[in-house]
Amino acid sequence: MLKMYINPNIKRGRINKEIYGHFAEHLGRGIYEGIYVGEDSPIPNTNGMRNDVVAALKAMKVPVLRWPGGCFADEYHWKDGIGPKETRKKMINTHWGGVVEDNSFGTHEFMELCAQLDCEAYVNGNVGSGSVQEMNEWVEYMTFDGVSPMTALREANGRKEPWKVKYFGVGNENWGCGGNMTPEYYGNLYRRYQTYVRDYDTENKLTKICCGANIDDYNWTKKVMETCFKGTPEHLHGLMDGLSLHYYTIPGEFWTQKGAATGFNEDEWYITMKKTLKMEELINRHGTIMDEYDPDKKIGLIVDEWGNWFDVEVGTNPGFLYQQNTMRDALVAGINLNIFNKHCDRVKMANIAQMVNVLQSVILTEGEKMILTPTYYVFYLYQNHQDATLVESYLQAPLTGTKEYEVPSLQESVSINEEGHLNITITNLSLNESYEIDSILTDWNAQDVKATILTGKMDDHNTFENPETVKLADFTDYTVTEQGIRFTIPPCSVLHLEVK
Ligand code: AHR
Repeated sequence: MLKMYINPNIKRGRINKEIYGHFAEHLGRGIYEGIYVGEDSPIPNTNGMRNDVVAALKAMKVPVLRWPGGCFADEYHWKDGIGPKETRKKMINTHWGGVVEDNSFGTHEFMELCAQLDCEAYVNGNVGSGSVQEMNEWVEYMTFDGVSPMTALREANGRKEPWKVKYFGVGNENWGCGGNMTPEYYGNLYRRYQTYVRDYDTENKLTKICCGANIDDYNWTKKVMETCFKGTPEHLHGLMDGLSLHYYTIPGEFWTQKGAATGFNEDEWYITMKKTLKMEELINRHGTIMDEYDPDKKIGLIVDEWGNWFDVEVGTNPGFLYQQNTMRDALVAGINLNIFNKHCDRVKMANIAQMVNVLQSVILTEGEKMILTPTYYVFYLYQNHQDATLVESYLQAPLTGTKEYEVPSLQESVSINEEGHLNITITNLSLNESYEIDSILTDWNAQDVKATILTGKMDDHNTFENPETVKLADFTDYTVTEQGIRFTIPPCSVLHLEVK
């Protein structure tokens, strides 16, 4: 029997709700069709947003939404997306599929979506092909309440009140699609652009996010931090609130063959898990470099793109990045979210890529139909951690895997919420082994347990014909002991225990 130790007396910090964030780019059917269908659509909608999708997302609790990209952000000119829809510019979305972007979803529509989801807005500005003035005016348009050309323009477009924008990204992947810059060059641009990303309203304090590294490019982190902080006066130290990190799990090779989303073998299962677990090393090592300039951890590591990236579904536009979602995705989500929770002292936000119909989505749509993916259910279970306090935990985890790829079988994180309930989430990566776990809770008399599980075979997924192959189920295989709870976690599963 394995042991799990939980000590609710040892508090490790607040799990920012934004760790459960999402990302929606102008890419494929992510926004258009997946979320926004327009007011005149036969698909039931409110101000153009699909009612079914919004309701499902609300039930899962989206705390923050990043928009408009991604690579699209550094080609996006926000003024193309305001004003009467008939006169908005039509353009080609050069990054993603070469389709016409009619700009019918712009700033007002994004803010409407955030209002319907009741979530924070994370707007990503354009450094790659945009000017300082353009970025400055966008922030002014969205958040200023005084007399100015931008507030007059906003009002002329039907919105008197400014919106609240909590997060603002100064460029995206500026080491790549956002301008192919060197870290020193971008670091200097960041200093300049962010100067004009102003807090116009004392009630709207922007959290400014600097473009961070791709995967393990530690040199980028080092050089950007150095450029922004080394030898700079004290008053400049507030110029950055967050530094991003992008890391996708790709079982194969990015450029040649990433691997199919379904129909994979056990080796591919375990290599996917192994690559996902690398997230912890990335957080530790980028975090160590940040510590040099920010020992008090005031600057958040913002993992604003993560998730599985597979080959697109056969017959779909390669630029639309549409992929199915199986129990493998559920485990990858569970692993990453447990890692983010356990590093909540440094990780202040994370955004899975992407919310609907793109990469590792929580929802897939086809015309008026909608299905929830296994990843959706993991976010649904883990919502209990949002804004809760991480507590000390340790779980014994024997190795599991194939001859080629071995990984620790179990990962956990535990938090205590405002009502004083413990929430325990555990992933079992093994495809064959169930594990009996004896949990020992310090100074805790377990009275009442509610347990829910997501489990199945590795390739199980939901389709429009069979939308409920994978879904949550009550879990009853536990007993309350004098010291805690004893339970058996089945293979290939994500388990949530709520303990009062
Ligand atoms: O999420 C898809 C793309 O992946 C984003 O546009 C880009 O930032 C990243 O390379």
